[in-house]
Amino acid sequence: MYTSKEIQEQKNYINKVKKLNNKKLKYSILTMGCQLNENDSEKICGMLEEMNYIPSNDFEDADIVIFNTCCVRENAEDKLFGKLGELKKIKETKGIIIAIGGCMMQEKHITQKLHESYPFVDIIFGTHTLHKFPEDLYKALIENKKIDDILDIDGKIYEGLPIKRSSNFQAQVTIMNGCNNFCSYCIVPYVRGRERSRDPEDIINEIKQLAKDGYKEVTLLGQNVNSYLRVEMEEIKNGKRKDTGKYDKINSFAKLLREINKIDGIERIRFVSPHPKDFTDDVIEAIRDCDKICKLIHLPLQSGSTNMLKIMNRKYTKEQYLDLVKKMKKEIPNLVLSTDIIVGFAGETDEDFEDTLDVVRQVKFEQVYMFIYSRRVGTPGDKMKNQIPEEIKHKRFDKLKALVESQIQENNQKYVGTIQKVLVEGPSKNNKDMLTGRTDSNKVVVFEGKQDLIQKIIDLKIVSEHMWYLKGKIINEG
Ligand code: SAH
Ligand code: SF4
Ligand code: F3S
Repeated sequence: MYTSKEIQEQKNYINKVKKLNNKKLKYSILTMGCQLNENDSEKICGMLEEMNYIPSNDFEDADIVIFNTCCVRENAEDKLFGKLGELKKIKETKGIIIAIGGCMMQEKHITQKLHESYPFVDIIFGTHTLHKFPEDLYKALIENKKIDDILDIDGKIYEGLPIKRSSNFQAQVTIMNGCNNFCSYCIVPYVRGRERSRDPEDIINEIKQLAKDGYKEVTLLGQNVNSYLRVEMEEIKNGKRKDTGKYDKINSFAKLLREINKIDGIERIRFVSPHPKDFTDDVIEAIRDCDKICKLIHLPLQSGSTNMLKIMNRKYTKEQYLDLVKKMKKEIPNLVLSTDIIVGFAGETDEDFEDTLDVVRQVKFEQVYMFIYSRRVGTPGDKMKNQIPEEIKHKRFDKLKALVESQIQENNQKYVGTIQKVLVEGPSKNNKDMLTGRTDSNKVVVFEGKQDLIQKIIDLKIVSEHMWYLKGKIINEG
């Protein structure tokens, strides 16, 4: 791995802050977004811990509070401003540092609001300047001034940042940043910039190291994972990028999957999110051939109506989506699917919504993440005239939810009596005497067992189903 000059510079800042902090100070971080956002938080924690900070769950007790924000839906904003209100009092009585980063900070109207109404915030940093956190913190501490560190241009990919992972057997590995798809409802391309893929060698080395450190499961992350290296390969083809040979062995998502599958020690591979339009045959074949790839694939639908999909700029039709599902189910034994659906996007008619229900009925998803459309400033969707009244959106949402829940219950029945391989995660949240783990298809299973099973993959017989979890019984601890 190559450590850039910029990262070296930040390592110097890490040392400078460490010297300032001659005793251990406490940090508290709130992560508000998706898994990419969580992975960024793990890097923020990594930097903080190298600077002599230790974690604390309590804002009141912390010397620095960090919010890593999301802006994909409106409720994230309400949450941030609510939390900032709470923090104001703590800030006034105790000289804590408040730092806010993440996607929402890439939105101008938000940073403006922060400057105007929340001037007590010390550091504002964006998605392209995460690696500069040590420098921002040093300046806030030593110069006692407010730091605004936002870049509008696409950031580079930085390797070699410290990382403090939230689990010691399941790891998230970001393989690419940004998104080029511009779905008309979505803010992500505006706050995360254009697609840039990490070098395959860096990803493979990171996962080999994870395997050495005892990690069993990796989840590959990106907004559009199955277009991994697409931009880079196109640039090489049209002469915009020099071919240095670094993509000779791995030049696509399918090849990356096959290479990760060979890494000893890693037992499960997951990835989110692929885009249906990029689900090429080589990816389907890789999933089929690689024994470690979990056979639960997330395939975001968004809408089942061809008309809505066009307005959403999704680049596939209802029929193309259903054909893809058919092909995948035929090629990949035991495949199950999960999906994302937006209800009530601008212009959605009752017929359009019926098409969504129809696809849900046909595909029988293992899990459906449902969202009510939320207007995002700066996206084409926000400017569309035919917005759907909130009341209709909610009615449709409830109808979809009822269908999904009835399907989940029916689907759960199929598990009862089967034997499932379960990666044991830890004590159950609701009952500390029980353990909890997940099947290959990401179903939560609760069962009785000894603590030393944690982090192992064991065989469980499913004895009953309870909507959001299954109950199991140990049959083999191998
Ligand atoms: N890149 C991924 C996920 C992006 S965000 C993908 O394409 O699937 C996660 C989910 O949030 C999306 O799949 C979508 O269902 C939902 N989402 C995005 N923008 C939204 C909006 N404006 N309102 C409601 N839901 C939204
Ligand atoms: Fe948003 Fe679409 Fe990109 Fe996903 S693919 S991040 S929904 S623009
Ligand atoms: Fe939210 Fe940014 Fe993820 S907007 S969903 S945290 S990429």
